[in-house]
Amino acid sequence: MNETAEPLAVPPVAPETLARIESAVAGLDAAQLQWVSGYLAGLATGGGQAVANPKSESAASLTILYGSQTGNGRRIAETLAAEAASRGLAAQAINMADYSAKRLKRERFVALVVSTHGEGDPPDDALELHGLLGGRRRPGLSELSFSVLALGDSSYELFCQTGRDFDRHLAAAGACRAAPLAECDVDYEKTAALWQDTVLEQAESLLGADAARQTPALRAVPTGPRWDRKSPFAAELLLNQPITGRGSTKDVRHIELSLEGSGLTYLPGDALGVVNPNPEWIVEPVSEALGLRDGRSLRALTGELEITSVNRRFLEAWADLEPGGRLARELEETGSAGLGAWMRSRQVIDVLRAYPAELDPDLLLTVFRPLTPRLYSIASAPEVVEEEVHLTVAHVNYRAHDADHWGAASSWLALGCSEADPVSVYVEPNDRFRLPEDPDRNIIMVGPGTGIAPFRAFVQSRQDAAGSGRNWLFFGDRNFATDFLYQSEWLRYRRQGVLYELDVAFSRDQAEKVYVQHRLAERGRELYAWLQEGAHFYVCGDATRMAPDVETVLLDIVREHGAMTADSAVEYLAGLRKAGRYQRDVY
Ligand SMILES: Cc1cc2nc3c(=O)[nH]c(=O)nc-3n(C[C@H](O)[C@H](O)[C@H](O)COP(=O)(O)OP(=O)(O)OC[C@H]3O[C@@H](n4cnc5c(N)ncnc54)[C@H](O)[C@@H]3O)c2cc1C
Ligand SMILES: Cc1cc2nc3c(=O)[nH]c(=O)nc-3n(C[C@H](O)[C@H](O)[C@H](O)COP(=O)(O)O)c2cc1C
Repeated sequence: MNETAEPLAVPPVAPETLARIESAVAGLDAAQLQWVSGYLAGLATGGGQAVANPKSESAASLTILYGSQTGNGRRIAETLAAEAASRGLAAQAINMADYSAKRLKRERFVALVVSTHGEGDPPDDALELHGLLGGRRRPGLSELSFSVLALGDSSYELFCQTGRDFDRHLAAAGACRAAPLAECDVDYEKTAALWQDTVLEQAESLLGADAARQTPALRAVPTGPRWDRKSPFAAELLLNQPITGRGSTKDVRHIELSLEGSGLTYLPGDALGVVNPNPEWIVEPVSEALGLRDGRSLRALTGELEITSVNRRFLEAWADLEPGGRLARELEETGSAGLGAWMRSRQVIDVLRAYPAELDPDLLLTVFRPLTPRLYSIASAPEVVEEEVHLTVAHVNYRAHDADHWGAASSWLALGCSEADPVSVYVEPNDRFRLPEDPDRNIIMVGPGTGIAPFRAFVQSRQDAAGSGRNWLFFGDRNFATDFLYQSEWLRYRRQGVLYELDVAFSRDQAEKVYVQHRLAERGRELYAWLQEGAHFYVCGDATRMAPDVETVLLDIVREHGAMTADSAVEYLAGLRKAGRYQRDVY
């Protein structure tokens, strides 16, 4: 036998993926590494995300299905799986997109964590299962027990809609509700922890000895990244540069931050979480309207509480406090159908000024919900900018109700933070928005407005990888002269051939409004040819109008140029989505 060691095979993953794996396992002891190897084997065979015992894909295990767009649901599902494993209960957290609905008939207990996006819509990864369970082909599931954790935001009209749908559909399929539907607002931690305890109790009693026989393989929640939303990294501000021109109706900033010394890594497609304080120009009028100027209240208003966007909990609490009862009447007249628009067109300060009331400082934490981090798509590729991270931030700053208004995080980034006052950040990975592993694949990117951000990262990374895949970008905004974000970079890429195609739509430069979806339609024939050759199609930016309009046009293109019926076009797109070739990062 040859005594010399075989040279290591070239790893079948990109160097940055390998670096990420190495950084994720750094510091684990032998037992933990062994568990990780089983975990990875489980992933390879079952598509699961966390397993107590990779061989135990049996009905007697707890299956945790998650549908998550911005990572909260995934984190909750993974924590539940790890906690179950630490109790010796076989459990598997699986992204709904990787789960075959046929398996449901064989399951005994499914815990489902799902958020709501768009206007009451399922996250992309939950679309298929949601459609199946809500449709005519819903399977009978009388052997199944389940419980749903719904994630949402009570400032939206259709609060927790997708979770409510799943709960209803599963019950209609004959499944037994083992624990009631739990609905979480953006401060989801407490409700999620209570739900987790209930689910584990139910799972232990329902799955009984079979499941509990598994060796407790994991004693603790797996070590996550060192910096997270609870303990963010203080990143130094390197650059804050307006990238909209003088006279623009918008103020968009290119922000560069240093990650030096943090060990934080990211991939193109990830988002950066910003854990900001409320700036003083937002705190000041709110504290004045509340008549609360003591140090404790000011600290809470600055660092702990959401004092810009309006949500149901705040409105209900404020309506109870308001002496005249006018707010309660106004809300009743508005009705639940109009409430979403009512909330969106006001900030907290508008409600405080229009419906004055007295607030006991001890009630601050009850009336206002906790301040939550904001996410920003990362606009740089680490292989190019190394220990930096770049963002493209639209500064929310407008006049309404006879007063100036600002967004908490964006105005703090645009006007407030300085080198002396770093930005607290963490990386929110987004594996649902990734470049093709193969750099020779073509990609099509649709990113109007700040939707351009991840595509700056994509194109930097593609240039660095120097594959033969062609890059096609669709960008749009209001005016060419002032709003062509990163114009010189795109034109340079175009000259260098890094961008093979660049189509732009400036809506206000002519009498008729032109948007990216119109440009897509004009290029329908070539676009369909690219898709047929295996191109990946990406959309980033506005979730309310742009993303649905782009999808409608994409369906039209497929129908027309593929000579398909409307139903086949829908199937074609579903196939692209399933193959990871139609990915969206919309907000
Ligand atoms: C996955 C993801 C990626 C994202 N990527 C980016 C990105 O790359 N770049 C980016 O800029 N943003 C991005 N966002 C949005 C970002 O997270 C914030 O929501 C945004 O910056 C606003 O936050 P804020 O704290 O400044 O405003 P908030 O303090 O949250 O206040 C906004 C409030 O103002 C109201 N409001 C806002 N604009 C107006 C207006 N014109 N007229 C009337 N009322 C208004 C709203 O209804 C709301 O009440 C992303 C979001 C997600 C989920
Ligand atoms: C663009 C966007 C749209 C949203 N729409 C809704 C909605 O219609 N109803 C709701 O209850 N929550 C809505 N939310 C809030 C999310 O459901 C909430 O932030 C949740 O915690 C996200 O969980 P996830 O990270 O697992 O996707 C929306 C969030 C975003 C970013």
